[in-house]
Amino acid sequence: MADRKTDIDLTRLFSDDRAEFARLGKRTMDSLADYLTRLPDEVVDRVVPDDERAYLSNLDFPDQGMSADDIVTFMEQHIMPWPQPTGHQRSYGWVNSPPMPVSILADGVAQTMNAALDGYDFSGIFLMVSLGRWLMELTGIPDEEDSMALLFSGGSAANLNALTTARYWAAKTDGWNVRDEGLQGGRPAMIAYASDQVHSSVQRCMEQLGLGSDNLRKVPANDAFQMDVGALKDMIAADRAEGLRPFAVVASAGTTNTGAIDPMNAIAGVCEDSGLWFHVDGAYGGFGGLDPRYSEAYVGIERAHTVTIDPHKWLHVPLDCGALLTRHKSLHREAFSLTPDYLEQGEHDGAPWPYEYMFQLTYANRALKTWAALARMGKSGVRDLIIRCNALADLLDQLVSDAPDLERLSPTSLSVVNFRYVPEGQDLDPAQLDDLNERISGAVSDSGEAHIPTTRVAGKISLRACILHYDNNADDMRHLVALVRRLGSELSGT
Ligand SMILES: Cc1ncc(COP(=O)(O)O)c(C=O)c1O
Repeated sequence: MADRKTDIDLTRLFSDDRAEFARLGKRTMDSLADYLTRLPDEVVDRVVPDDERAYLSNLDFPDQGMSADDIVTFMEQHIMPWPQPTGHQRSYGWVNSPPMPVSILADGVAQTMNAALDGYDFSGIFLMVSLGRWLMELTGIPDEEDSMALLFSGGSAANLNALTTARYWAAKTDGWNVRDEGLQGGRPAMIAYASDQVHSSVQRCMEQLGLGSDNLRKVPANDAFQMDVGALKDMIAADRAEGLRPFAVVASAGTTNTGAIDPMNAIAGVCEDSGLWFHVDGAYGGFGGLDPRYSEAYVGIERAHTVTIDPHKWLHVPLDCGALLTRHKSLHREAFSLTPDYLEQGEHDGAPWPYEYMFQLTYANRALKTWAALARMGKSGVRDLIIRCNALADLLDQLVSDAPDLERLSPTSLSVVNFRYVPEGQDLDPAQLDDLNERISGAVSDSGEAHIPTTRVAGKISLRACILHYDNNADDMRHLVALVRRLGSELSGT
């Protein structure tokens, strides 16, 4: 034992930084505050320059660690100048909102305490119970005895948890256990249904679950990009007649591409009549029912078995945070729980330990930053945010309709507007229009004034605006339309 180096001095690694935490923290906070203050006047889409890409990709691993001050300097010089555009109010591309300042701070507290949200007697576990209730209230999900909210990395992970539980439940209903037996027993294929507008994560869930993307039926959508419920019923009946095992329907409460809301009440009825799991993907639009203009469209969400919502989308929670609201927590526990000897199985004072209801074991305390955002906004703040974003989308829709050289490509739903530039007096074919609008999107980024990427809507390249920023206002909508028209005119030579 004599040669074991128990006395290596590690003070230089962390202890000094802990002693200096307040100074280092103030320095970092000052930089961040400066960044947030200057953001509105900055170029919106700041592309990392080539030399920075090369520099960041080829760093040598230092033998002697850098000082904490050097690390802060590095972040100031090489990281902070190149944010994703989502923080800027004239960035309309992503479904992610800018992080709310107090949530950034709350996340710092969560990280400093370093307490995982998987289990144990820790404040986050109890806070999670209230947060779950709040999220259910906002989404219109009944807070029942078997209800629970789980936090994940995002909507994809929440969808996967929901469909894993649905798969377990379908097998259990049929008298077998998919956890024990797996999918290799030659049983009839399980089939899920979603509209052809559903988010790609649902297909990836089917792949991950070993069910296969061929067994995700893409139900045709109508002209408003909503699921055709008659077609859904026909497809279920046809699969049953083939001896297959329909098990779940995924409805979208706000598709990513067009904001379309599937007819949830009718789909709930189909699921109840056919004995299928009803999952709603509301990652983007789960809170849309708070806007009286859309509340009718959200009737039926309360009948879902599970609902995905993404607090890092419309709720301004810093990345990452997705959530699943379930009305069947006991089934999730059956589908996931496995407690190793070194862990205590627990549920204290009615606060479930999340790791028993999901695949992940240790995971960060996402509850605190999410709670902080909701506590800061209050119910009325969230409602006002949703109503205002949707109203701005309606204004943008109107401005597009009024412009002779702009064409709307989908009915405006929630806060998503799809449109394209169509030069007057020119007879461009579809490929030329696609190309022109791709170039307009690039020119918008290059102008530094805004950011609006493209998508495809019914096969056509579309400029897609998703209005999510708490600072967005009517001037932003007018500015966007004027910018697209000016650049469209320049690029098409009209
Ligand atoms: C409707 C919908 N579902 C699921 C997802 C996936 O969510 P995440 O990216 O948080 O995993 C998204 C992401 O944009 C989405 O818009």
